[in-house]
Amino acid sequence: MGTNSERVLCVGLCNLDIVMVCPSYPLEDSDQRCISHRWQRGGNASNSATIFAEYGVKCEFLGTVSLDIGGQFMKKNFDEHNICTENCHYYEEFESPVSTIWINSENGSRTIVHANKNMPEISYEDFSALNLKDYSWIHFECRPNYEPMKANLEHIRRWNENKANNSITVSIEVEKPSLQQTEVLSLGDVLFISKDFAAAHGFSNMVDAVETLSCKLRRGATLICSWGEKGACAKSSDGPLYVSKAFPPTNVVNTLGAGDTFIAGSIISLMKGKNMQDAIIMGCKIAGTKCGMHDSKELSKLCPFS
Ligand code: ADP
Ligand code: FRU
Repeated sequence: MGTNSERVLCVGLCNLDIVMVCPSYPLEDSDQRCISHRWQRGGNASNSATIFAEYGVKCEFLGTVSLDIGGQFMKKNFDEHNICTENCHYYEEFESPVSTIWINSENGSRTIVHANKNMPEISYEDFSALNLKDYSWIHFECRPNYEPMKANLEHIRRWNENKANNSITVSIEVEKPSLQQTEVLSLGDVLFISKDFAAAHGFSNMVDAVETLSCKLRRGATLICSWGEKGACAKSSDGPLYVSKAFPPTNVVNTLGAGDTFIAGSIISLMKGKNMQDAIIMGCKIAGTKCGMHDSKELSKLCPFS
């Protein structure tokens, strides 16, 4: 790592997470105190960016950011993590998306209630203003309206076609179960799907999901599915199946952002030249370690690359 073109770009949502760690899952219509409370910068692409930065990978976040108090908090936090946000689109007129999140300290589960009033997505105009020579890997969080992302992917495809340019690897996270089309699976080099997305397509386990859905990939691409405490698996369009078990910490205290951590951990491994089997094992180790912590500070010390 080191030259400019080895920077990772994470494209997607950043939102304000209002996190409350609760003694147990709250009862409806009850009134109680939490154990601890904090504001956190959240959003899948933004969380993955934090993990890249924690592991010393040069990283940029591209998204839309409000200038309201939540947006100012998040901008400062990006700066503190040394994550570049110079190409983000800043808005005075829109409010930051917000999630209120209950962590059940009995089992580490996270219950998320998300609100996004009207924040626009990153547009093709925003994306095409980037200098693509700065990036070796671009990771997209697929948003419910993914038309702008398709135009951005087409822009990268044209860039990659010119042999004089640095070649950019594209990964896409497809998490939302509301995404009914599988078309998006044919648009990147490494596709990450969630158990929610797989379940919405009728699958009850990760192996069946990747065995069946990998036929939607373009040639040479790989589909990866993570499944909580079951671990993760991967399969390319015409290759073997790889499986990794999960690596649970002694105490699961907080599973918020486990998937975002798994994605960043797997990508870092692939960028370091590891094969797909080792990459998903490392992704699971890093994500498992993170489930034993309330934030990702010092994660790279607790779970160094092997
Ligand atoms: P998300 O956070 O997006 O729902 P998952 O639940 O699939 O994502 O978790 C991603 C990865 O994090 C899993 O593949 C696994 O390696 C790790 N992980 C998640 N929950 C646990 C857990 N309870 N114990 C151990 N590892 C876990
Ligand atoms: C975790 C997360 C949170 C955010 C929510 C948005 O994966 O990115 O940080 O509030 O999901 O759906």
